Amino acid sequence: MRFPSKEDGKGIWELVKSTRVLDLNSAYSYLLLSKYFNETCVVAEADGIIAGFVSAFHPPQQPEVIFVWQVAVDEAFRRHRLGMNMLKHLLARKACSNSRYLEITVNPSNHAAYNLYRKLADELGTSCVEEECFPSRLFPGGQHEEEIMLRIGPLM
Ligand SMILES: CC(C)(COP(=O)(O)OP(=O)(O)OC[C@H]1O[C@@H](n2cnc3c(N)ncnc32)[C@H](O)[C@@H]1OP(=O)(O)O)[C@@H](O)C(=O)NCCC(=O)NCCS
Repeated sequence: MRFPSKEDGKGIWELVKSTRVLDLNSAYSYLLLSKYFNETCVVAEADGIIAGFVSAFHPPQQPEVIFVWQVAVDEAFRRHRLGMNMLKHLLARKACSNSRYLEITVNPSNHAAYNLYRKLADELGTSCVEEECFPSRLFPGGQHEEEIMLRIGPLM
């Protein structure tokens, strides 16, 4: 597990695309994350392949929060705790040493993600509080599921 570099942007885009459930953002956005937000993003590499990716950042008005944007694990590597370990690795980074809460949004139908984040809170011995974040009506086209906010913490 390591910081991404801009050389990873393409592979990250391909991994996110392969999940078929995550919103696929532009290739440019993954290059941007890899270049400017690499201290709060994680790449897991296995034999030269990007097996996992986490994107995250500190919201400018809430520096004590680490907001996790996307978590992706290649299908071949699932259920081996890679998702869990990437999140714990992120929280152990110097860039997160002052983070008191991890926030993440999740679609209600994504049981794997829900279970992962609730288990993370359990393993950290802290709370996981749910609140409305982005209802479907805010997305264009009326097809996007709502995004529920999970707030995990306090972390320290
Ligand atoms: C969600 C995802 C990141 C989980 O990654 P992973 O490496 O397979 O997860 P882990 O092995 O670390 O699982 C840790 C815990 O999460 C829960 N979990 C993970 N996958 C699960 C699944 N398919 N069904 C139910 N629970 C699941 C379990 O509690 C698991 O602990 P256990 O294996 O001891 O029961 C992965 O399935 C994925 O990339 N999915 C597609 C993209 C996605 O939905 N991302 C999250 C969007 S918010």
